[in-house]
Amino acid sequence: MGDIIGMGLSHYPGPAVPVEAWPDMLTQWVKMGRIDPADFAAQDKWPAAMRAEWGGDAGQSSARLHRDRLFAGYARLRKALDDFQPDVVVMFGDDQYENFKQDCIPAFAVGIFDSVACKPFGTGRVPFGTDANIWGVPADTELTVQCSHEAAAGLCRDLLAQDFDVAYSRAIRHPKGLSHSFALAVLYLDLERKGFPYPIVPLSVNCYCNQLIKTAAGAHGEGADEISPPAPTPKRCFAFGRAVARYYAASPWRVAIIGSSSWSHASLTTKHGRLYPDIPADRALHEDLKNNRFDRWGGLDLSALEDAGQHEVLNWVCLAGAMTELGQKPQFVDYVETHVFNSNKCFAVFPPADGRGSVPAV
Ligand SMILES: [Fe+2]
Repeated sequence: MGDIIGMGLSHYPGPAVPVEAWPDMLTQWVKMGRIDPADFAAQDKWPAAMRAEWGGDAGQSSARLHRDRLFAGYARLRKALDDFQPDVVVMFGDDQYENFKQDCIPAFAVGIFDSVACKPFGTGRVPFGTDANIWGVPADTELTVQCSHEAAAGLCRDLLAQDFDVAYSRAIRHPKGLSHSFALAVLYLDLERKGFPYPIVPLSVNCYCNQLIKTAAGAHGEGADEISPPAPTPKRCFAFGRAVARYYAASPWRVAIIGSSSWSHASLTTKHGRLYPDIPADRALHEDLKNNRFDRWGGLDLSALEDAGQHEVLNWVCLAGAMTELGQKPQFVDYVETHVFNSNKCFAVFPPADGRGSVPAV
């Protein structure tokens, strides 16, 4: 029976680009028409915590603090991964109108690949207005991500045999390869660029819910002012996570299961004019996680998640289902809050029963 370690992380695009550019996302959103220029200019109406974070240097000092927390989180997760030595890394991640477009948007899809050539180094172009990256390599540099065909195909067969009607994908359409949620997670778990030796299984979750066509397709110039059909419910995402965990727990492999996403996104929080995320909603999730109440995330309400800009949290709901199935609890949780840098981020490690991959408490 395979041991499993669980992890949650963010794939916020910031860590790939020079920190000086991080505050520029807000001005880029203004230029793109996502944020009303009047809302951005009226800083006296911003929440006090947002004004303090923006400070007297337009967010530069706060960006460095935010970066340091994120880099520390990725380093901890990588250390836990290396201690655990997985055979396979399975990731729940969202497709933001990259590999799945208007012809078919699956609720869940298993990526069955041997390897995928990705180009994540120019990830700062849209959100930050720069092609620069912290490694100083050309934006179109290729990153080959190894995948496990066997562990993906086996999961797909098992899920279908359990009457869980997943789609599967055998080809990549996105010019940058794997969707951002997978490619950036691999990149950030290898910030020092020493290599990422673990083959992955990408599991796409249609997180974008009502905003898929308007916001995600809109970022590619193919949007329409319409409300998209919904995402799978949190109940179904939780059940999906449980089913995935059951399969890998019965497999011969050591497996890391990762939920890849930030929590509330300013860019999806329409009630705040897309200026800042829903802090109280994320604090509630953080309390659940810290206090081992994540087993109730299958009961979250989809419209409440959408209202809070927490669309991508569905990736963490899948992870919560998997960890509930296995009875694993988080040993390390770091919740990083922000008003300025688009999304609140959380890092978590759920060690296996054998303790390998354990992390010291903060
Ligand atoms: Fe995402």
